[in-house]
Amino acid sequence: MKIHEYQAKRIFAKYGIPVPIGGTAFSVDEAEVVAKRILHETGGTLTVVKAQIHAGGRGKGGGVKLAKGGADEARRIASEILAMQLITHQTGPEGQKVRRLYVEQGLEIARELYLGAVVDRDTRRIAFMASTEGGVEIEKVAEETPEKIQTIFVDPIVGMTGYQARQLAYGLDLQKSGKQTVAQFVKVMSALYQLFVKEDCSLCEINPLIVTKTGDIVALDAKMTFDDNAAFRHPEWADERDTDEEDPVELEAQNAGLNYVALDGNVGCLVNGAGLAMATMDIIKAVGGDRGVAPANFLDVGGGANQEQVTKAFKMILRSPRVKAIFVNIFGGIMKCDVIAAGVVAAAKELGLKVPLVVRLEGTNVALGKEILAKSGLHIMTADTMKDGADKIVAAVAGGSVK
Ligand SMILES: Nc1ncnc2c1ncn2[C@@H]1O[C@H](COP(=O)(O)OP(=O)(O)OP(=O)(O)O)[C@@H](O)[C@H]1O
Ligand SMILES: [Mg+2]
Repeated sequence: MKIHEYQAKRIFAKYGIPVPIGGTAFSVDEAEVVAKRILHETGGTLTVVKAQIHAGGRGKGGGVKLAKGGADEARRIASEILAMQLITHQTGPEGQKVRRLYVEQGLEIARELYLGAVVDRDTRRIAFMASTEGGVEIEKVAEETPEKIQTIFVDPIVGMTGYQARQLAYGLDLQKSGKQTVAQFVKVMSALYQLFVKEDCSLCEINPLIVTKTGDIVALDAKMTFDDNAAFRHPEWADERDTDEEDPVELEAQNAGLNYVALDGNVGCLVNGAGLAMATMDIIKAVGGDRGVAPANFLDVGGGANQEQVTKAFKMILRSPRVKAIFVNIFGGIMKCDVIAAGVVAAAKELGLKVPLVVRLEGTNVALGKEILAKSGLHIMTADTMKDGADKIVAAVAGGSVK
């Protein structure tokens, strides 16, 4: 689960990571009030108005702007950003509607650094990455000059040690800004580690982590993702969730107890079991990738799906305008093939299916299942093997005959 910058900054503050003074605004009026308060409290002249969407790259897309002309300018910028359909490299071409703003104190930046923490699956440790090249181009740095990113791995038994934090601090040349800058950075590292573990993060990123003109370390941006598997011990997450930012179909799937991930392709997949679902996506790509055929979703209906869930799953798949055909690939173990076949037929009839449908069934009661499909009067193509099914679905989407 992702949260917004302002929510993550609130958590930073709780753990003692310095952040600028700021406040949220859902309207232009609120933005002006917050800007006035900030200018009053800081005695400064600069505020920053920031779009709160879950996708990154906001600054480049015009969603982060400095207001130098007091609260009036903050108000004008707020009205601009609130009217935006913000397009960034992470939102996709349709962009994301801006509904919330964060207005904060503008700081004088001496250096912009990058500091991020993730769970590293290879070492099974929390990895901290830091770079002198913070700011809005970090993806480019990672791609073109990866040597500029330094990484340390934290031993879960020992925890973050002082020397590891200092190693990164010196790697970032922070001693040049003074001893107290190094000390502040070490404190931020240790706080970030505590936070990461206690709040069950899967990612926590500060880009940029700045050194101010006075040599202080401040987190200017915050990106935090929680590990959904830990939701049971974080009842507070429910309040932090912003469903406007989530894929509506994925949300619906979650509520129906289905594992669904929307993808970019054109073949809707309805499969039981995560392993089979991934293998199905692989074989579609393997057979049809060079002809522009690819999975439109990952969907695991689970081991014990019933007719109702199959219907729901079908509906979800069909909500995507990209879906040009559907591939049902089911292994009937706990779930019997005839039940699935009945579910598929009922769903197809109810929804008035207009795209080609390929069904591959295997396992318990497979003959009965195939009979139900054959007698349904619907145009359903059946397949005997996965490869056969993949060939048929690719032919259905890309044209041509089955190889
Ligand atoms: N409070 C602030 N004071 C001064 N400059 C700021 C402030 N907040 C942001 N900036 C400037 O704006 C740039 C972009 O801000 P920020 O990192 O929050 O957004 P972003 O990186 O574009 O968004 P995302 O993290 O979603 O990709 C920063 O690198 C920094 O130069
Ligand atoms: Mg940023």
